[in-house]
Amino acid sequence: MEHPLTTATVELRHYGHDDLQQIRQTLLDVHADAYADEMDDEFNQRFPWFVDHWGGHPGFACVIGYEDGQPVGFAYGAPATPGREWWREHVSTPPADDSTFSLSELMVRPRWRKTGTAERLHTALLERRPEALAVLLVDPDHPKVQGLYETWDYRKVGNRQPFPDSPNFAVMLRELRPA
Ligand SMILES: CC(C)(COP(=O)(O)OP(=O)(O)OC[C@H]1O[C@@H](n2cnc3c(N)ncnc32)[C@H](O)[C@@H]1OP(=O)(O)O)[C@@H](O)C(=O)NCCC(=O)NCCS
Repeated sequence: MEHPLTTATVELRHYGHDDLQQIRQTLLDVHADAYADEMDDEFNQRFPWFVDHWGGHPGFACVIGYEDGQPVGFAYGAPATPGREWWREHVSTPPADDSTFSLSELMVRPRWRKTGTAERLHTALLERRPEALAVLLVDPDHPKVQGLYETWDYRKVGNRQPFPDSPNFAVMLRELRPA
């Protein structure tokens, strides 16, 4: 019988830019498991480039979950460049405080899905953020993931295709603090 999983047994640890070399292989290992069914996709094969790109940002922030010492999932992102936020061209009247955290990745290994671990990782990463807004991109071919983000108070504001071979992502935006 499988060991029953509860989120309470997953320990969350915070990391920043200076920790990139220490956590880089962990991120790659979790990705390989989380996307095992989709690794024929060239966009997914470029994940190490994205880790180095995001981890190279001085404001990189990452939360990794561990159970019994093994990584089970992570969330990471970095502050958006003012004026170049993913939502910018889609929102006609931005809020007065338009500081934005770009949530680049959230993934959980299959065995830890539906345990609340993904939501805990997301909450732990964003609750420390000073920005007013969070933005993420989601593949519209994965409507259930988009629906999950809607239950976390994100709303779709438009579409964005950052690379010619990437999906035409849905851009999802939420406030990080009550108005
Ligand atoms: C997204 C994720 C972190 C959510 O974890 P969770 O809160 O435990 O929720 P679930 O895994 O149950 O996912 C919610 C629903 O989306 C679906 N879903 C999740 N990832 C999916 C993917 N990559 N493609 C298609 N559907 C997906 C699940 O099957 C589930 O649908 P169901 O309720 O009918 O079973 C986790 O599913 C994951 O790591 N997925 C792979 C990586 C990913 O797609 N990350 C999001 C990038 S924007």
